[in-house]
Amino acid sequence: MSRAQEHSYVLARIAMAVLLLVQCTAQAASDQKPLVSRITQDFNTSLYTVSIKNGAPLVVDLAGSLVWFALCLPVFAAFGDTPVYLPNYNPSGPFDYTKRIQQTPFLTNPRTPGYYLPVKGISVSWRGPSVPVSLPAGALDLDVRTGRGGVVLSTVTPNAVMRPDVFRAFAKAFDTVVVRDSGGRMARGAPGHRRFELCYGGAGGTSFTFPMMKWTGIDAPAITLQLGAGATGNWTILNSNYLREWSCVGVVEMGPEGMPVDGEPAVVLGGVQLENVLLVFDLDKRTLGFSRLLEWDLTSCYSATMFRYKLPTTQP
Ligand SMILES: *[C@@H]1O[C@H](CO)[C@@H](O)[C@H](O)[C@H]1NC(C)=O
Ligand SMILES: *[C@@H]1O[C@H](CO)[C@@H](O)[C@H](O)[C@H]1NC(C)=O
Repeated sequence: MSRAQEHSYVLARIAMAVLLLVQCTAQAASDQKPLVSRITQDFNTSLYTVSIKNGAPLVVDLAGSLVWFALCLPVFAAFGDTPVYLPNYNPSGPFDYTKRIQQTPFLTNPRTPGYYLPVKGISVSWRGPSVPVSLPAGALDLDVRTGRGGVVLSTVTPNAVMRPDVFRAFAKAFDTVVVRDSGGRMARGAPGHRRFELCYGGAGGTSFTFPMMKWTGIDAPAITLQLGAGATGNWTILNSNYLREWSCVGVVEMGPEGMPVDGEPAVVLGGVQLENVLLVFDLDKRTLGFSRLLEWDLTSCYSATMFRYKLPTTQP
């Protein structure tokens, strides 16, 4: 297949799978097992909600009391063990992503509910070697005695939020990588009217900006959360999981004027970081499965189905 054919093929699969998801969701709701619910996002508040049969919509809140199985924002949540098939280039058809994704133990905080990632360090990389965010050892750790610190997942906060010391070190690493890997053509711009502090553009008033890639959006640095013992891979935050307003980094500094955050964590990963990422919770094993941004596997939360189907043998 040519690239263009591949692309329309992927789009066709996505369109078909959305139909299947709708059917499957209706069926699951009547069987009650597993319950797969569509998510909608409130335009004004950015909050995600799920409709539970015969009830008012519930806000998707990982710090709430619902028992999650799988979450794929902004499309669906599953509350019972179910395979999640996603189509991609695999010629034998969609496969169950819940079995293929990376795993990490998660931590909980006795003082504040929610899922915490065991993050040891953060780095930023683009076209050259990765640049570590310079922080003292343990700066990101959760202190279970005070309930402070840690890296927590939040579905009720749109952007990532960082404690001021973490934010400053992160901004420095991001600046370094953008300047170095653009050959000095790009730099952080004056914030001006923009909502985010970290916005990048052409150095010295030129119109340089992050270029587009062919398939996976804007060509911009990756942010890697280095996970601790027991994780099978690191957590990588790619372009659309953090870019806002084309060239701004959707990370804000924690503070009185920033997002109010319970318990003073070191870092909050918000809804934008979790969109189009498949999360699978295993409360018995206390592990969290996580994909990277699904677009990078040329698939998407929109194309998920909960049962396997064979691809037709004749392809467009
Ligand atoms: C969003 O906010 C606007 C203005 O505040 C209001 O008119 C509109 O009804 C709101 N929409 C929803 C879906 O709540
Ligand atoms: C995570 O990243 C660190 C630093 O690059 C690396 O040493 C480590 O092997 C990675 N962990 C996994 C599980 O891939």
